[in-house]
Amino acid sequence: MNRIYLDHNATTPLHSEVIERMTAVLRDEFGNPSSVHHFGQRTKALMDDGRAAVAALIGAEASDVVFTSGGTESDNLAIRGVAEAMEAAGRRHLIATSIEHEAVLNTLKALGRRGWRTTLLPLDQTGVVSPDALRAAITDDTAIVSIMHANNEVGTIQPVAALAEIAHERGALMHTDAVQSAGKVPVGVRTLGVDLLSISAHKMNGPKGVGALWMRRGLRLVPVLTGGRHERSRRAGTENVAGIVGFGVAAGLAARKRAADADTLAALRDRLERDVTRAVAGATVNGGGSPRVPNTTNISFERVEAESLLIALDLAGIAVSTGSACSSGTLEPSHVLKAMGFSAHRTQNSIRFSLGLGNTEADVDRTVAVLPGIVEKLRSLSRSPVRV
Ligand SMILES: Cc1ncc(COP(=O)(O)O)c(C=O)c1O
Repeated sequence: MNRIYLDHNATTPLHSEVIERMTAVLRDEFGNPSSVHHFGQRTKALMDDGRAAVAALIGAEASDVVFTSGGTESDNLAIRGVAEAMEAAGRRHLIATSIEHEAVLNTLKALGRRGWRTTLLPLDQTGVVSPDALRAAITDDTAIVSIMHANNEVGTIQPVAALAEIAHERGALMHTDAVQSAGKVPVGVRTLGVDLLSISAHKMNGPKGVGALWMRRGLRLVPVLTGGRHERSRRAGTENVAGIVGFGVAAGLAARKRAADADTLAALRDRLERDVTRAVAGATVNGGGSPRVPNTTNISFERVEAESLLIALDLAGIAVSTGSACSSGTLEPSHVLKAMGFSAHRTQNSIRFSLGLGNTEADVDRTVAVLPGIVEKLRSLSRSPVRV
């Protein structure tokens, strides 16, 4: 079966250039980049190139980029590192939104259990947080405001620059999780006005298990991983050299191709939305009126249980996601759609389609062709009353 992958927000396939470069590094370069001899200096130089490419993607200086094991670690390092560093100054309040990724939400929860006060800003059905909500919540003891640039489930883009200004007016630091925006929309650390920014390689056709945290020069942060003096004492542990090389190649490609890819993906996404909402009665786009990354759409299908739809689509060769976590057999409704104020029913009948490298009009058309029949079948099996 010719399978179609429409789950690029979960992860992306490696670009062929990434595979080539990483393979060569894994085969030919094994030195420890901290070693002073020839072998170490070779891998150090490779890592420097990767750092420069990643920094260029986000308009930053290479020396301000810290390599990590991925977006999750970058978020942890930003929030825990700042929280601990600012504790002595009496700043023990942390702010995020209720639609953050678990990497941020659960880090706040963990710090909350250790005595930090936490506030999650509310949102409405636009999926965009209002600067007024931050203004109302921020206090003089706020240490960090962590608000994602683009949401992973609905793709909405937050007004990070305006939020950063508010954070700074009150002496707080601003972190943004740009894992889902980097490579999809312009991401510039200065334009966004942030102090810390997280990104991850595997969301931009790079490898899994490598990410980066950009931090403004001079910012003090307590490392989460203690050990050697790697990454200028900001993150201990021998670096993932091949991963960093792959990340660098992916970042370089993203920087060069982003604008053209964004146009292609937006056209495909718009075609998908238009045709699905035409072909399937009771299909509604969530967050569709807001600024969004070009590759993502989240669609509710009235009277259809999302998990069943996901499985039926998978059997038809189409990979999508519900964007919600299914843990130990219990279906968890999407915390994002819930926070946007959608009914319990709607949070459970929504599917995320996220497009990327290699997707074509034919993929979209096949998806649109199979959806009405699957939805009709699932509806005829379900006895639940019509609710929106
Ligand atoms: C918005 C966001 N932040 C953080 C992460 C975590 O990144 P990683 O998988 O590299 O740990 C993800 C991954 O899904 C994400 O979508």
